[in-house]
Amino acid sequence: MTETLVKSEEQGTTQFTLNGLPVEVKGRHPHLLSALREELGVTSAKDGCSPSGQCGCCTVLIDGKAFVSCQISLQKAAGRSITTLEGFDPSERERFASAFAATGALQCGFCTPGIVVRLKALLDKKGSELTRQDAARHLGAHLCRCTGYTKILDAVDVLASGKIPEASTAGGMGARAVKYESLEHALGDCGYVDDLRVPGLLHGALRLADYARADVVRVDTAPALAVPGVQAVFTAADVPGELRVGIIHTDWPVFIPEGGRTSYLGDVIAMVVADSRQTAREAAQLVDVEYRPLRPLTDAMAAIEDPEDAVWQLKGNVLSRSAYRRGDVDAALAASAHAVHEVFQTQRVEHAFLEPESTLAVPQEDGALKVFSGGQGVWDDRNQVASVLGIPAERVVVEQVSNGGAFGGKEDMSNQAQTALAAWLLRRPVKCTLSREESFLMHPKRHPIRLEYWAGCDEQGMLTAVKARMVGDSGAYASVGMKVLERAAGHASGPYIVPNIDVESLAVRTNNPVCGAFRGFGANQAQFAMEGVMDRLAEKVGISGWEMRARNVVRPGAVWGPGQVMDEGCAGARACLDTVKPAYDEAVAAGKAVGLGLGLKNAGLGNGFLEIVRAVVRFSEDGDLEVRHCWTEMGQGIHTVARQVAVEELGVSPERVHVVVDTTRDLGAGQTTGSRGTLMGAGAISDACRRAKADGCRAGVEYTGEYRVDWTNSIEEGVEHPTVHSAFSYAAELVVKGRETAQVERVVAVHDVGRAVNPLLCEGQVEGAVHMGLGYALTEEFPSDQDGRPLKKTLRSLGILRAKDVPTIETVLVEVPQPRSPYGIKGMGEIGLVPTAGAVAAALHDLDGNWRATLPMRASAGEAD
Ligand code: FES
Ligand code: FES
Repeated sequence: MTETLVKSEEQGTTQFTLNGLPVEVKGRHPHLLSALREELGVTSAKDGCSPSGQCGCCTVLIDGKAFVSCQISLQKAAGRSITTLEGFDPSERERFASAFAATGALQCGFCTPGIVVRLKALLDKKGSELTRQDAARHLGAHLCRCTGYTKILDAVDVLASGKIPEASTAGGMGARAVKYESLEHALGDCGYVDDLRVPGLLHGALRLADYARADVVRVDTAPALAVPGVQAVFTAADVPGELRVGIIHTDWPVFIPEGGRTSYLGDVIAMVVADSRQTAREAAQLVDVEYRPLRPLTDAMAAIEDPEDAVWQLKGNVLSRSAYRRGDVDAALAASAHAVHEVFQTQRVEHAFLEPESTLAVPQEDGALKVFSGGQGVWDDRNQVASVLGIPAERVVVEQVSNGGAFGGKEDMSNQAQTALAAWLLRRPVKCTLSREESFLMHPKRHPIRLEYWAGCDEQGMLTAVKARMVGDSGAYASVGMKVLERAAGHASGPYIVPNIDVESLAVRTNNPVCGAFRGFGANQAQFAMEGVMDRLAEKVGISGWEMRARNVVRPGAVWGPGQVMDEGCAGARACLDTVKPAYDEAVAAGKAVGLGLGLKNAGLGNGFLEIVRAVVRFSEDGDLEVRHCWTEMGQGIHTVARQVAVEELGVSPERVHVVVDTTRDLGAGQTTGSRGTLMGAGAISDACRRAKADGCRAGVEYTGEYRVDWTNSIEEGVEHPTVHSAFSYAAELVVKGRETAQVERVVAVHDVGRAVNPLLCEGQVEGAVHMGLGYALTEEFPSDQDGRPLKKTLRSLGILRAKDVPTIETVLVEVPQPRSPYGIKGMGEIGLVPTAGAVAAALHDLDGNWRATLPMRASAGEAD
C-alpha cells in the first residue's frame, strides 16, 4: 500500500534533512517533489504524474519509509529526514544498479529510481524474506510501462538472495549483455529532458482548448501577463513562420489563432512563460478565451457522410482510403463450406509512457537554437521547429535526450514548437514539461477501429476468402493515421494464406483525440479481428485453434494478403506454432481454458518508402570506438544493439564503445518506429564497421555505413505481387486461464525474431509487450464523450495492469533468419502484443462459450463488452 500524507498549503520557508544534510526550501511548491526537483537539485525522483501520486516515479524515503513525494506537502515534510537515491550509500547504489542491470529489469528507466527506493524500504524491513509476491503487491504503487514487471521481480529475487550476478557488457551478436548505460539508468542518473538544468531557465506552460470544436473569437492574454513572475505570453500572432506542422500532412496548428477554430481538446491557444513552472501553469489558466462552441463530430462512422468538416480549414472528413483485392471474394464466400460474419470494435488506448513530454530550448551564442527533445524523430522535430520559426533548418539543432518511453506516442511534436518559439523570441532558455493530464490531451493515441469481417473456409478448414471493411477514428489531425489504417489493411488476413481477399480501410477525421502511432500500428486491431475469425471457423469445422492456424499459416512462396509472395523468412510463423504446441497440448490436457494467437508484424516502413539509413564509426587515438547513429533510445535497447554490432564486427572491448546519437548530420533515420531501429541500425553500423576494417581502422577517420531498403512497393501501385514489406516478425502466444478463477495464469510467448541480437533485451521486449497486450485485451481504454472530451484523466483510471496482476510470462525465442536482412534480424519491438488480444478472446470463449468482438473484453459473459 502507498502511504500518503495529507496535503496542505505551505508558506514561508521549510526546513528538513535531505540525504543527511539540513536544507531550507524558500520557493512556492505544490508538493515535496517540486521542492526536491526544482529547488534542491534532486533528479533521481522523477515526475510522471504529479500531483496525483499514481506512478510511483517520485518515491523517496521519509524517515526510512517509502512515500510518493508528489503527495507530500512541504508542511508535512518539515523536520523530517528525506532520502533520495542520491543519498544512498555508494555500495548500496551499486548493488541495486547491478541487480537491475544484470536481470534486464529496466528499459527506459524512468520508473526505475522510484522502484529502487521502494525496494530499499522493503528489503530493509524484510531482508532475505522478501518474496516476489510480496514485492509485486507493494509495487502496486508503481507503474512500469516497459518491462511487464517480470524482470523487475527477477531483480527482487537476486537482491533478496544477496547473490547479484555480474552485470556483464561482454559479447557481440547473441550475447545476453546488459543494456547500454543501464547502471546509470537504474539510479536515475541519465538525464531526461526535465532533468536538464541551465542558467537563466524560464518555464513554459500551455493553455489548451476548452472545447473540441469551437470558433476562437478572442484571446486575452492580459490576465496572465499581470501575474508576478510571468515574462511573456505567446499566441499564434507571434509565429513568424508556418502555423502548421505534421510528420506527413502539415495540418496540425501549433496555436489556434483568434478567428481560428479548435479541432480537439489538445489544441494550444497560448504559451505562458514565467520564472517558475508553478507560476506559468497557474497563469496559463488565466488566459481568457472567448469561444463560439460548435457541434463536435465524434462518431467516425457518421463523420464520413457529415456535411460539416470536422477540422478547421480541412475539406472532408475521410483522411485516407487503403484498399486491395485479389480473386472473387463473393463467389468464394458463397461456395464456402463454413462462413462467419462479425463486426469487431477496438478501443482507443493511451500510451502512458511514464515520462510526460518535455522540451528544453536554448538559444546559442552563434544565433542558432538548440532544442532538447525526447521525441522519436529528431530530424522531423528540427525541420518542423525551423518551419514554425521561419528560419533555415540549419539554425536549429535538436539534441536527442534519454527518452522515458514512447511506444509511438512521441513521433509527433507536442510542445517542441511552442517552447522553441518562446526561447527564440525571448533569447532565453525555456523548458516546458506537460502535466499528465496535458499529455493525455495532446499526443496521439491508438486508433479505435471498427472492423467488419466476412470469411469462409472449406470442409477441412482451409480459408477460401476474407472480406474486411475497416473504419478508424483518427481524431482531428493526420499524424500517421493514414499509415496506421494502411497497415491495418495490409495485415487484415494475419499470417495466413487467403486465396480471395477484398479489403478496404478508411481513416476518418473527427474531433476526438488524435490517433497515430502506437506499438503494433494497426496490425493489432486487424489481427484481433482475424484471430477471432479463425477461432470461429475452427469451431465450425470442428478442429482446434492450433490446427486451424497450422493448416492456413503462410509458407515460403505463398501469396500473402495484398499479394506479396512470402520469402523463406515466413517459415518463422510455422516454427512459432510448432514450438508452442507442447505447451498448448499440455494446457488443453490439464483442462485449462486455452487461447492461441498467431500474428505477424512488418519491420520497417515498407509500402514503397525509400529507406536509406547511415551510421558512422570512428576510432580515437587511444583505441576507443565511437558509434554514431540517429535512432531514439526509448528503452528498447538500440544503443546496446549498436555496441554489440561493433563488438561483433571489430572485436573491440565493449567498454571502449561509445554510442552517440548524432544530430549534427543527417543520417537519414527518420522516425524510430515500425520495429526498424535494430534491423536498419544494425545494417548501417555493420556496414560502417566493415568499411573501417577494410581500411585498417585508422584513428580519426569517420567510416560511414549504409543500409537501404529500396525494393518495397505500395499496395496502391497496382503491382500484382507487391513486396509491401521487406521483413516480418512472427509470434504465437498461448494464454492459459484457470476455469475456477478465470484469471490468466500463464502466457507462453513464442517469438520469431530472425536473429536475437540480445536475448535478455528480446525477452524484456516480449514481456513488456505481453503486459501491454493483456491490458489491451482486458482492461485498458481511453474513451471520450460526445463532446470529444476524454473520460480518463489519471494514470490509474487507464486500466494498466499492476505488477500483482501480471501472470507468468514464458518467453521462447525462435530464430528463422530473414533473407536480405543484416544477420537475419526481423525486428521485434511491435510484434509482442499483436497476437495477445486474439489469444485472450479464445481463452475466454473456451471458458464460457461466448465469442467476444469488442475490446476491452470482460472476463464473464454477463458483463457487457
Ligand atoms: S509523480 Fe508522484 S506518483 Fe507519479
Ligand atoms: S522501464 Fe519502467 S517505465 Fe520504462
